[in-house]
Amino acid sequence: MVRQFEQEYAEQQPGILFLLLLLLPVDHTTPRWRSKEGNPSARTGISMMQTLFTILSGSAVILLLLYRKFPYFVQDVMHARLNIWISGQRAKFLQTMPYFTVLDRFLELAKKQPAKPFIIFEDELFTYGDGDLQSNKVARALRQHAGLREGDTVALFLGNQPLFVWLLLGLAKLGCAPALMNYGIRASPLLQCLSCTSAKVLIADAGVRGAVEEVLPSLRQKGIRVFILGEACSSEGLEALSDKIQQASDQPLSPQLRAQVKATTPTAYFYTSGTTGLPKATVSTEAKAWAAAFLLTHAHVGAQDRLYLTLPLYHMSGLHAGLHGITVVLKRKFSASQFWADCRRHNVTVILYIGEILRYLCNTPAGADDRRHRVRVVVGNGLRADVWRLFLQRFGKIRITEFYGSSDGNTALMNYPGRVGAVGKVNFYHRRVAPYVLVQFDPEREELVRDAYGLCVQVPTGETGLFLSKITARNPFGGYLNNPEQTERKKVRDVVEKGDLFLNSGDLMKIDEDGFVFFQDRVGDTFRWKGENVATTEVASILTMMDSVLDSNVYGVQLPGHEGRAGMATLTLKEGKTLDCSETFAHISHSLPQFAWPQFIRIQNDPELTGTFKQVKFRLVKEGFDPSTIRDPLFIVDPGRKTYSPLTQDCYDSIWSGKVKL
Ligand SMILES: *[C@@H]1O[C@H](CO)[C@@H](O)[C@H](O)[C@H]1NC(C)=O
Repeated sequence: MVRQFEQEYAEQQPGILFLLLLLLPVDHTTPRWRSKEGNPSARTGISMMQTLFTILSGSAVILLLLYRKFPYFVQDVMHARLNIWISGQRAKFLQTMPYFTVLDRFLELAKKQPAKPFIIFEDELFTYGDGDLQSNKVARALRQHAGLREGDTVALFLGNQPLFVWLLLGLAKLGCAPALMNYGIRASPLLQCLSCTSAKVLIADAGVRGAVEEVLPSLRQKGIRVFILGEACSSEGLEALSDKIQQASDQPLSPQLRAQVKATTPTAYFYTSGTTGLPKATVSTEAKAWAAAFLLTHAHVGAQDRLYLTLPLYHMSGLHAGLHGITVVLKRKFSASQFWADCRRHNVTVILYIGEILRYLCNTPAGADDRRHRVRVVVGNGLRADVWRLFLQRFGKIRITEFYGSSDGNTALMNYPGRVGAVGKVNFYHRRVAPYVLVQFDPEREELVRDAYGLCVQVPTGETGLFLSKITARNPFGGYLNNPEQTERKKVRDVVEKGDLFLNSGDLMKIDEDGFVFFQDRVGDTFRWKGENVATTEVASILTMMDSVLDSNVYGVQLPGHEGRAGMATLTLKEGKTLDCSETFAHISHSLPQFAWPQFIRIQNDPELTGTFKQVKFRLVKEGFDPSTIRDPLFIVDPGRKTYSPLTQDCYDSIWSGKVKL
């Protein structure tokens, strides 16, 4: 492995190979005078000392010079070595016959450490052994009552709870893949999600029974069987599952039930708005699941750690934490006021975050015991530089590892040196195994800039461009399930040379001289709010379903002190109609998850007709929601009163000054 690494590196920067040799174990660099095959009588002790001295002082000077030119060299090398080790581990798993699955890893841990706490949830503790037995029961119940067989897809519609994990393990034991639905979705997006995977069965927890009942006729039409995690069900078409799980045996299931699983087998479907349009399903394979599982290895998390998980389990992040044999303190929902108390009570050492979580923690009143905890590592995505500094100031010395990646992407970046504000760092190794480019993008026309030869134009170091990552055998793009059109839209051809193929991340980035990557903005038909992608076309189509609305244009506006963008909708009303604020709120809150609600509404009864749709949108985004410059009526969402209220100058000022947080 080291040899291959040396070769790869030498091709890039031959001058530094020497330094690399110094870092390697002694036997690689043993000078001749110490080797037995050499001729010791030819050299005296004095000349040995002289040679040693020359080598040492020479290398010290070279090291110093190199350090000034490449300050992150050692960290890059360490990171690359870990990467190579991980690739080796993955290759080993991928090649074993029969294939060593993510589930096999769990079963191995359950056998090795059955009494070790696996999940702590509210006041309950489940060991690795419990997890194994519980998932046996789940698998048996589903096999018997839902008729599940290897290769089937099952939609899961649950909030965080241990049963979620038992379902994931149980489905893996049957060779079935879960489709992980966002717990906040309702109505037509819910149906949309179900129809883009070919799930035969939907399992929902009792908390979303109402939402499921509402779409039940359509589900039955599609032939989807619906199970509710409750004891008895009165509704026609809903079957209870909890009693069936309780009655099932906890005996192990035969591996024959999942005999076909290999590296390319889908292990889970995640939903994403991606860069464009309605929710789409992305496929995660065994190989990808392993890659995700190693994320924590990169962040130096080990078996002795205790991980606090407040993020939804239906997100990619956090799903594979258990593979490290660690203890997971699972929380139903994030709570800023209970956060540190939970961490102290359970001796938590690692936290998974999205940027908003750490900001909410910084917004709580400072307390005397802010630093009384054992958290040493936080791993996550979307942390802004100002919150980053504030967080460290308040909560003490914690290693922050920001990473970048998405379920529909083909590459990941990690900020392993911990530079404030960066989402990742690229290095020689990265550029070789996961090539990428930053190219010019025209925000007004929402198009890539092309040169005279039809190729993309790369931006110079330090300037903002659209991040494109090359699609290769090593970094494949799985695409969207049953959606070839959207899959094709994510691909970009003829980037660096004719005929090449890249994946459009939809993210504008900046890379500095040291290789640190800074997220700037998102492009396309989505924006990010509260750690979720909001699809503008989806929100717009929900709004135009209202009687009074002729047309709607949805986009995100930037707010000081907030990650991402807040949703805003500009509506054109039908002749003679007015906006009924509480009806609008009722319609939106019924059809969309909270993160997708427009925070602001602008009524434009004289829509601009010149220019393309995209140009109009670009101008609306720039104008934002300032009542002092916009003459059109503006409204702000008011969840407390369940309505939209007129946006006053006062209200605008408090949002702008950061007094009010959305
Ligand atoms: C946390 O650590 C302390 C000291 O090591 C120990 O006494 C305590 O039992 C631990 N608490 C839990 C919940 O593991």
